[in-house]
Amino acid sequence: MLKKRVFVTRKIPSEGLDIINQEFHTSVWPDEFPPSKEEIVDMATDCEGMVTLLSDPIGADVIDQLPNLKVIAQYAVGYDNIDVKYATQKGIIVTNTPGVLTETTADLTWALIMSASRRIVEADRYVREGHWKVAWGPELLLGSDVFGATIGIVGMGRIGRAVARRAAGFNMKILYTARSVQDRDSEVAEQLGAQRVDLNTLLKASEIVTLHVPLTSDTTHLIGKSELAMMKPGSILINTSRGPVVDEDALYQALLTKQLGAAGLDVFTEEPIRLDSPLLQLANVVLAPHIGSASTRTRSTMAKMCAENLHVALSGAKPPNIVNPEVL
Ligand code: GLV
Ligand code: GLV
Repeated sequence: MLKKRVFVTRKIPSEGLDIINQEFHTSVWPDEFPPSKEEIVDMATDCEGMVTLLSDPIGADVIDQLPNLKVIAQYAVGYDNIDVKYATQKGIIVTNTPGVLTETTADLTWALIMSASRRIVEADRYVREGHWKVAWGPELLLGSDVFGATIGIVGMGRIGRAVARRAAGFNMKILYTARSVQDRDSEVAEQLGAQRVDLNTLLKASEIVTLHVPLTSDTTHLIGKSELAMMKPGSILINTSRGPVVDEDALYQALLTKQLGAAGLDVFTEEPIRLDSPLLQLANVVLAPHIGSASTRTRSTMAKMCAENLHVALSGAKPPNIVNPEVL
């Protein structure tokens, strides 16, 4: 039987790629840099399946040029790079990789919370650059306490809840916002003593604010100038969700004026962040290159999930991680 054609937009871990290669007539984009829209269309012509990354713009313009496409298997939990509504209209199944990266992303969130609070990156630089001349300084590199602080979790989805569970171990007071109250919210509240509040209350009361919402039109610039002004002086903002959730210019100003104590950022308005971004000049920002889910185990599990989603969807059944079930 003729194998179906699939385009994979980057080399993903072999645990998934080997399966895809065996089962399909597969082409893989060979470069580390993402293909352009034109290159995607060119490579994916005649393909029924595609594996995509969040840096691949899959809008109506691309979809329109791929008449055979039946499945887009996103190698990520977020899928704001895909016009899912249009894909659905065209009868294309979209899948993602939820669940498996929850704890890994919560770990990275905590790495940023700890680094930003205790100035770990600054401290490392201080030692390496030869500034450590006095054995012990009463006021050297003072940071803020995490244990016992109030944490505000914006978005109580899977990742938000995983962050909350860790916060309980640090004896933190936990505030959160959630789009809708679900059973699991009252579970969180009961087990962790977390309290659901509105965004303004959360911003005013938290020493650490961490963002765990998907990027939508409602969450674009959710944290802007006035929200940052509401935050406690010296408080810390952590973003491991999507860059555009925060107004980056307003964030820079808030950090520059020390209205905010520090920020820990894994995501940016433009990725990669430009080297002339003023954020790179600030000592009170910890930066990471969008590595929330980047553990060896999780990335290989995500690759296997992608392969499974492709396999099931292209065999005509409902894939385990379908984003747009209404398409069926
Ligand atoms: C990463 O940002 C993801 O959405 O998986
Ligand atoms: C993503 O997995 C989320 O629900 O936070």
